[in-house]
Amino acid sequence: MPQRSTCTLLLTLALLGNVFSVPFVEHVYHNYTALVDIMNDLTDLYPQYTEVYSVGKSVEDRELLVMAIAGTDPDKHIPGRPEVKYVGNMHGNEAVGRELLLQLIEHYLVGYTDGDADIKQFLDETRVHILPSMNPDGFEESDMLDCTSIKGRFNANGLNLNRNFPDFFEENTQEIQIETRAIMDWLEDIPFILSANLHGGALLANYPYDNIEPDKKNASYCPYHACPDDDTYRNLSLTYSLNHENMYDEDFNDCEHVRGGNRPGFKDGITNGCAWYQAIGVMQDYNYIAAGCMEITLEVSCCKYPNVTELPTFWDWNRKSLIEYLKQVHKGVKGQVLDENDDPIVGASVRVQGRDLPFKTASDGYYWRILLPGTYTIEVAKEGYQNAQKSVAVSGDLYDVSLLDFKLEPMTTSTQSNDPSDDGVAVSPSICLSVIMTSLIILVLKVIP
Ligand SMILES: *[C@@H]1O[C@H](CO)[C@@H](O)[C@H](O)[C@H]1NC(C)=O
Ligand SMILES: *[C@@H]1O[C@H](CO)[C@@H](O)[C@H](O)[C@H]1NC(C)=O
Ligand SMILES: *[C@@H]1O[C@H](CO)[C@@H](O)[C@H](O)[C@H]1NC(C)=O
Ligand SMILES: *[C@@H]1O[C@H](CO)[C@@H](O)[C@H](O)[C@H]1NC(C)=O
Ligand SMILES: [Zn+2]
Repeated sequence: MPQRSTCTLLLTLALLGNVFSVPFVEHVYHNYTALVDIMNDLTDLYPQYTEVYSVGKSVEDRELLVMAIAGTDPDKHIPGRPEVKYVGNMHGNEAVGRELLLQLIEHYLVGYTDGDADIKQFLDETRVHILPSMNPDGFEESDMLDCTSIKGRFNANGLNLNRNFPDFFEENTQEIQIETRAIMDWLEDIPFILSANLHGGALLANYPYDNIEPDKKNASYCPYHACPDDDTYRNLSLTYSLNHENMYDEDFNDCEHVRGGNRPGFKDGITNGCAWYQAIGVMQDYNYIAAGCMEITLEVSCCKYPNVTELPTFWDWNRKSLIEYLKQVHKGVKGQVLDENDDPIVGASVRVQGRDLPFKTASDGYYWRILLPGTYTIEVAKEGYQNAQKSVAVSGDLYDVSLLDFKLEPMTTSTQSNDPSDDGVAVSPSICLSVIMTSLIILVLKVIP
């Protein structure tokens, strides 16, 4: 039955009684046309809780469609409400994530309307954005049952999108692709806090950093390159792997049952990116460093494009992980940075003392950081204002985010200059250089029509 008439039928039935628990998204691979249809059908079914939008187009002119879901106002950012996301199918032939995310959309919507208390609490306090396919062109080139090849992996210009982001440890000479640019713009538009990027061909959760300064590696070896929030990232990654049916299992996550080969398994199913293999221009490092969004990379299937009959099993294995992972946004610290008139200060630099990677307040003046239990000092700096710092206790319990607002005093002419860059907020020179380079690239690209 065509999607549209299925939808009409369901809408009709919905008027007669509650049929929202009827499974609607089938366990099949949705090609581009079917993907667009199902996203639109789901918004027709649940208009109150959903908003479909496009972040841009692919090389072959396919829309990069996102479904935003929230208990109220799915179409807008509400000050202080956290924004989280999942991105799938960046490598076009890694197809399982794309279908998991469609299942997840329906699961959230059915759960919310059926009164699932856990999902209701989450969606009442969070806006979720789901981009099932970042590389729809690659997907159309791919073949089911192709577990290992690279057919369909790249975008239509033959480039690996997960090597295509500006890099902070060395210069990335690859030309930024339209799909990559769409994600970069998206990160500027929406103040995302937490994210994951779903891949296939392995089974593990991989966390930053993926790259390292060139002088700290050699051809055959990249060390564990811990980022300043390594403790949080390990916790987030474990949340995914331990809630998964078998990702945490070292004897299973080596993928030998699918691929043969001799890769060792991964302890607890997690790994530092660089320690697995070093890579330049990766999306997770960019999310974290450029946008202050904590992203990990999930490898969810040993076979990149398994038999369609296996999709229900993959959904069973990942459902709990997908739900639990995003809930982790609700721990840590948040607050609003205000000026002397109680107006939000946009783009103030915020840093957790001892973690040398500042991030910025959003357009509503809010910052938000996921942290494990402990006492932290938060430092805030903004040009034209005096620096401020405050200490905060974090319980680490879900839905118990500590609230820590700041009111910055304007600089008076008699006050000593305290440029945020030389007070409190220390960044490594290479990160600094890359941030400047990236800003310049962004500026230039924005000027060119
Ligand atoms: C996409 O899938 C639908 C079935 O859902 C099928 O009817 C259609 O022919 C497919 N389109 C392409 C281009 O393969
Ligand atoms: C690469 O680095 C590792 C760790 O420092 C070292 O054991 C290895 O010998 C180095 N290899 C080369 C070719 O320098
Ligand atoms: C994450 O950290 C919290 C607080 O330390 C701890 O209770 C929890 O068990 C950790 N989660 C995982 C999956 O390790
Ligand atoms: C997919 O798996 C099913 C069930 O195991 C099997 O019947 C079918 O032949 C497989 N499809 C292909 C294309 O191999
Ligand atoms: Zn991949």
